Amino acid sequence: MSDERILVVDDDPSLLTLLQMRLKSMGFVVTPCGTGRDALSRAQEEAFDFAILDLRLPDSDGLGLMEDLHHLHAGLPILILTAHGCIPNAVEAMQKGAHGYLTKPFDDKELLASIDKALTQQRMSQEIHRLQMLVNELYGMDKVVARSSEMQALLQQVARVAGTDATVCISGETGTGKEVIARVIHCNSSRANKSFIAVNCAAIPETLFESELFGHQKGSFTGAHQTKRGLFQTADKGTLFLDEIGEMPLSLQGKLLRAIQQREVLPIGAQVPTKVDVRILAATNSDLEVAVKEGRFREDLYYRIHVVPLWIPPLRERRQDIPSLTQFFLKQSVARLNKPIRGFTPDAMQAMVTYSWPGNVRELENVIERAVVMSPKDMITADLLPLAPGKSPGTLQPLTEAKEDFEREYLKDILRATDGNISRASQIAGRYRADFYKLLKKYGLHPSDNQGERVPPGEQVDLT
Ligand SMILES: Nc1ncnc2c1ncn2[C@@H]1O[C@H](COP(=O)(O)OP(=O)(O)OP(=O)(O)O)[C@@H](O)[C@H]1O
Ligand SMILES: [Mg+2]
Repeated sequence: MSDERILVVDDDPSLLTLLQMRLKSMGFVVTPCGTGRDALSRAQEEAFDFAILDLRLPDSDGLGLMEDLHHLHAGLPILILTAHGCIPNAVEAMQKGAHGYLTKPFDDKELLASIDKALTQQRMSQEIHRLQMLVNELYGMDKVVARSSEMQALLQQVARVAGTDATVCISGETGTGKEVIARVIHCNSSRANKSFIAVNCAAIPETLFESELFGHQKGSFTGAHQTKRGLFQTADKGTLFLDEIGEMPLSLQGKLLRAIQQREVLPIGAQVPTKVDVRILAATNSDLEVAVKEGRFREDLYYRIHVVPLWIPPLRERRQDIPSLTQFFLKQSVARLNKPIRGFTPDAMQAMVTYSWPGNVRELENVIERAVVMSPKDMITADLLPLAPGKSPGTLQPLTEAKEDFEREYLKDILRATDGNISRASQIAGRYRADFYKLLKKYGLHPSDNQGERVPPGEQVDLT
């Protein structure tokens, strides 16, 4: 047996000592706990490979503790200990996700066999997961439409950097696919079977940033009721994706730089730093060089994350991708909405290819979904596409305004489609709730604006 870490929870001190001795002699690293509360706080601080729980504890019930542990570490194998005659409880525990149970008293052989069985199962499911991920070179290549020579060149760069641990900074306009590329890099790296943690730097309030990223110790500030792991620790051995890094408050950029450089984080209230092994990917839709010049972004951090810069061209500069993207999203929408739509009429496709797509791939995806919903026939016609084709240069808006127009209409569409349900709406938009609210605020919209424009008080609505 190797040095796997086992959490053992039992309120009987003599049994706890006995278990500890037995397990240690079998080669495990053991953390003994006499109460559920103690067990939970240990589990918040370190990762275990296995847990053994007494079902009856003085301060909490074993089943509740099991659920809490599974919230912290999904998939943690748990072995339940029950007193003789409590088999129904053990059965309930098995139904709620325990890997097995032992009735007291038990001998070493039974104990070892149960642990062995659970750990073998666990290793097998991790292996299956790893294989799935490998097949997901899959993710790589079949979830990314890249017909144009620009995207082909980009994917070549991605293939070159994915296997290394290099920090990559992905830039590009909104909706160009920065997160898609970040996931492709992760899924094609040696970290593929570990976590990919995405952090939207624009969505976390400044006051919570440090605790979110680096964690905090219980009692380190008012409201810190529990010790909390930061996202750096959650991403340990995996990939941390720092989205919209340009929005990170200047005051925290130094701390982030230190964490990246030293590969360690200092949770708020902790005396000693914790080592972390994370690969950093960052994304931005603003020009970080300008931000550096204007003093909004630290130059040293800029160089640290710009080890490998990747730029995704806007869709209007790679129109070759539009027909393939259109087919790709049409297939998805048709399957999701279960409508028998065969394709686009030639002039509808023409409109798609010539449009300027200020909201890039996300806008295209949204336009198709809407057309599929609205289409009464089995072909999508140009009148179903809210695109302004063939605009002359004189009538074109500046990019920022066009993007804002798109975003406003897009938000209204989503609110309408979800009846103002913010959870669904933010999910569809691929945004955190806080981030989504921020967007609504920016455009003066309200979740109840799902009937279209808000009518200023006192104004009549003409329904004819
Ligand atoms: N090349 C592509 N192939 C298939 N789907 C894509 C591609 N590029 C983007 N998408 C899809 O477009 C949508 C937007 O992509 P993504 O969220 O990665 O963009 P982003 O650049 O991170 O946007 P933002 O700047 O707004 O955060 C997603 O639904 C994504 O799946
Ligand atoms: Mg994004």
